[in-house]
Amino acid sequence: MKLIGIARAHTNIALIKYWGKRNKELFLPMNSSLSLTLDAFYTDTKVTFDDALTEDSFLLNGEAQAVEETNKIAKFLDLFRQQMPEYYYAKVESLNFVPTAAGLASSASAFAALAGACNLASGLNLPIDELSTYARRGSGSSTRSLFGGFVEWDMGSDSDASSSRAHFIDDASWDIGMVIIVVNNQKKTVSSRLGMEQTVATSPFYPAWVETAKTDLAQMKQAIQAKDFKTLGEITETNGMKMHATMLGANPPICYFEPESILAQQQVRQLRELGIPAYMTMDAGPNVKVLCRASDMPRIKGELSKVFDESRLITSLPGEGVISLSEA
Ligand code: DP6
Repeated sequence: MKLIGIARAHTNIALIKYWGKRNKELFLPMNSSLSLTLDAFYTDTKVTFDDALTEDSFLLNGEAQAVEETNKIAKFLDLFRQQMPEYYYAKVESLNFVPTAAGLASSASAFAALAGACNLASGLNLPIDELSTYARRGSGSSTRSLFGGFVEWDMGSDSDASSSRAHFIDDASWDIGMVIIVVNNQKKTVSSRLGMEQTVATSPFYPAWVETAKTDLAQMKQAIQAKDFKTLGEITETNGMKMHATMLGANPPICYFEPESILAQQQVRQLRELGIPAYMTMDAGPNVKVLCRASDMPRIKGELSKVFDESRLITSLPGEGVISLSEA
């Protein structure tokens, strides 16, 4: 017997960052976060639970993945299999749709699409907010990719892990866009998992990060409600920089900036001097993401291409939440 589910999920970029776990096993974060789901990058995943299989397998872009990767997927599948009447091994096939050379293949869309496909194949059909608590166990940031537009991942309470889940805030349909400046498309040197662990354990600035992330989030939610783009952008930029500042305070220090990241940051400030509202954020890598007005994207691309090759500038509109690609 074969049980099949196919789902698509888009990646998201955090505007209030998630950086640090209070429980590693359950992926419970130290602070709530808020993101924008992006239309340009997504993952399609097909899960086939099959009683004829004798082991799990995982194919990414048509290539069989190593044991370590497959084991991670198997552990994730178990979250669903525990709820199913019978245990089936599975074949997992994923396709990452990321513009060439972007280097942005992210665990966020990967685990969100996998959760979506498992939800369909297993027949559990959980509501999306509950499904986000499953995605969370694959990778924290994927919690937010279950929804489109602006999404909050509520850190939840210690007494109830299932309260750490995502919810929809706003569809971001008020002229919001993002330009990604690809500085380097290589795999990151320090994984976010390790980077955040090291920061929580050693950075003296970490408590201040947790404290100010709370006020940043509250103010950002107000700005979104008021459709106040300037305040949204300013908080995005300061929150992202504060996350990197806490990392620089870790021992040993963690620095994801490369010389061209700094150049990109200067260019974003330059855009503002030209009167174009544009604000930057960076994650656990050297690329710079520019939050802007969607209608300004052609002009921003034009300005940035004076410094960066056009092939390294990717524009995106807000994306939608997880969708089923299974036949009805
Ligand atoms: C800087 O979600 O990749 O992008 O939960 O350990 O898988 P794990 O980490 P991950 O961390 C994302 C960190 C970030 C900020 C963010 O997306 O909120």
